Amino acid sequence: MGKSSKDKRDAYYRLAKEQNWRARSAFKLIQIDEQFDLFSYAEPSQCTRVVDLCAAPGSWSQVLSRILIKGESFGRRAWVEKMEGFRKQAGGPVGENSKDDDVSGMGALGVQPPSAELKPRPNVKIVAIDLQPMAPLEGIIQMAADITHPSTVPLLMKAIDPDFDERNQTHKVDLVISDGAPDVTGLHDLDIYVQSQLLYSALTLAMKVLRPGGKFVAKIFRGRNVDLIFAQLKLVFERVHLAKPRSSRASSVEAFVVCEGYRPVKDWTPEIGDALNIPQRASQQPVHSEAQTRHVREDGIVELHFEDEESDPQRWIAPFLACGDLSAWDADATYRLPADYVSLPPVQPPTAPPYKEAIERKRAEAGAYGKTKDRLRTSHRDGT
Ligand SMILES: C[S@@+](CC[C@H](N)C(=O)[O-])C[C@H]1O[C@@H](n2cnc3c(N)ncnc32)[C@H](O)[C@@H]1O
Repeated sequence: MGKSSKDKRDAYYRLAKEQNWRARSAFKLIQIDEQFDLFSYAEPSQCTRVVDLCAAPGSWSQVLSRILIKGESFGRRAWVEKMEGFRKQAGGPVGENSKDDDVSGMGALGVQPPSAELKPRPNVKIVAIDLQPMAPLEGIIQMAADITHPSTVPLLMKAIDPDFDERNQTHKVDLVISDGAPDVTGLHDLDIYVQSQLLYSALTLAMKVLRPGGKFVAKIFRGRNVDLIFAQLKLVFERVHLAKPRSSRASSVEAFVVCEGYRPVKDWTPEIGDALNIPQRASQQPVHSEAQTRHVREDGIVELHFEDEESDPQRWIAPFLACGDLSAWDADATYRLPADYVSLPPVQPPTAPPYKEAIERKRAEAGAYGKTKDRLRTSHRDGT
């Protein structure tokens, strides 16, 4: 697919370049915030400390930097300001709005209203982690590390708090976000399995650093047993939703779990690999009231069984919410562009992509007119 063809077939790819985002994923986070108010400004739930897992090339970190550090207005805040503007124009009351009041049909994707006042927040701390190196971003502490490896945990804790002490662990982070995705193999079940392992690692890190009441947002592939994962998340969060931003293609199994109201389990320290064994706290109202037993299957998924043999394993369906206004760009549609439209280059090409070496080798081997030396040798032998 040529560059301008991709601009037509993927509105969010084009918009990301126009609005200076490193990846189209930025819109997914903005649309989730529009619905769930992730970056709440109001005390006491004000969001100032965030961990961005699987962050490269860095568009989610850009969103964090622009909203929290620079104080720009996107997502929920942009939408509220837009509504207030409409109300003022219409001479109606101005004040608190509910997301369901959106009559603009425009969503809050981006372009700053001219009047938007910058509201930077004090004491912001953002840590971004990825296996891949990431070009620097203002105000973001970056770490190249594997989120599935136990050694990443102390590194992250130190990055958040240089005075961190293993013996006196404090939970300080307001929000953990993870857009982790494995290199997709095309083998559906395998991809879903590897994705769920990334989700569990992200959840373990989140349970180590989140403050009570904190939030966790993570990419999930909607596979057959996704309701078991929801049931586990529900053990440690008050509210769990499944969000599908409008910028995520309807045809893709991708969605995001949005978990709010973290409730740390007393006297339990999660370790990487342990997220599957979240203890059921005595004080917590179980999702299902009957007595249960746990069984960890070969594929790593926990099944909760009721004493009553007739019952199904414990499963729980998270409420599904589409985020982003219905009249926002459709991620699956092709749009006609003006004849004089100039296709822009990517904002931040990958710094060290895994395919770089393969391309360099191919280039080194390439001969005249793009033929490889092997093909040239064959041609000479054949006399062609
Ligand atoms: C879809 S991209 C993230 C895009 C990013 N949120 C953004 O907005 O630019 C998925 C990322 O997950 C990272 N990843 C996959 N497995 C990982 C692991 N075990 N530890 C850390 N990062 C990982 C990949 O390197 C890749 O950069």
